[in-house]
Amino acid sequence: MKKPTLTLISAAIVLASSSALAAPDWSKVPKRDIQVFHAGVTPIEWVMKKSDHSGRTGINKGESCVGCHEEKNGLNFDMKRLASKELEPVGAPKTMNFPVTVQAAYDKENLYMRLTFKAPADAAADAPREDKAPKHQVKAAIMLVGSKVPMASQIGCWATCHADVRSMPGADKDKKKYVSNANLAGDVYTDYFQWKSGEGGKGMVQVDGHVAEARVNKDGKALVKAEGENKGGVWTVTFTRKLTGGDGDIALAEGKSVPFGVAIHTDKTVYRFHHVSLGYTLGLGADGDIKAAKQ
Ligand code: HEC
Repeated sequence: MKKPTLTLISAAIVLASSSALAAPDWSKVPKRDIQVFHAGVTPIEWVMKKSDHSGRTGINKGESCVGCHEEKNGLNFDMKRLASKELEPVGAPKTMNFPVTVQAAYDKENLYMRLTFKAPADAAADAPREDKAPKHQVKAAIMLVGSKVPMASQIGCWATCHADVRSMPGADKDKKKYVSNANLAGDVYTDYFQWKSGEGGKGMVQVDGHVAEARVNKDGKALVKAEGENKGGVWTVTFTRKLTGGDGDIALAEGKSVPFGVAIHTDKTVYRFHHVSLGYTLGLGADGDIKAAKQ
């Protein structure tokens, strides 16, 4: 009898290890609803200016956006004000906020995140839209905030949201979002991955980027895959991301928590015409608003 060849043995090992790292059984992973909302023109400069936002005093004392604005999984914003000309000069969507169900799990190699939501199709007619092929009806992104970004766990994605970036009133139309005093080696940046729906058989698109001095929508090495589907108006988007990648990929590990936020573009809108979450924390075997289930 011939001994099994080395190739066969290693093939068996590869099979065994890939099944050990299979995507989780999502029906068993706890769910947490978070609200995403149309934030209008409320960049970090607005948030930190006392005459615009009285919450600044609390932020300086260490309070988080979620601490003041989330109540029983809903948001206490004055949506009429957010939709008014004061904070949204271009035009607000009819649906100002909607819930996104977030689930997370991890194993030795990967983080798995799943977002489930009903995407409204009523963005303001005057909001800028994607007009190039492939057209993306829906885009869903998760941003992780570097541990050395000032107030990272308090402000979430607002670390990248500035008054002078494109689509803000009067801003340079080419200026991309950025983190102040960014430093990729020093963990002063944000990391993000995104899934875009594809129309007309043009397929889906995934992006693995980061935001430092400017947004870079490539070069990430951590995202393994982003998948999405639309079933009767309910979108389910699943990300598989390696715990560690290269430059611009925030290193995750068991025992750590990371601040994150969610952004959903619906109705083919682009730029700031998205619905965003406040900043939450994701714990991997550690404390967090969302605790990733260990596989
Ligand atoms: C200490 C509590 C507190 C914190 C922390 C806080 N806010 Fe506020 N925020 C308020 C209050 C109070 C208002 C109501 C208007 C005002 O007084 O400025 C407000 C208003 C707003 C509004 C306008 C809509 C409205 O209801 O008037 C936005 C948008 C907003 N906050 C975003 C944020 C973001 C983003 C953060 C975190 C970066 C944050 N807030 C942190 C207290 C807070």
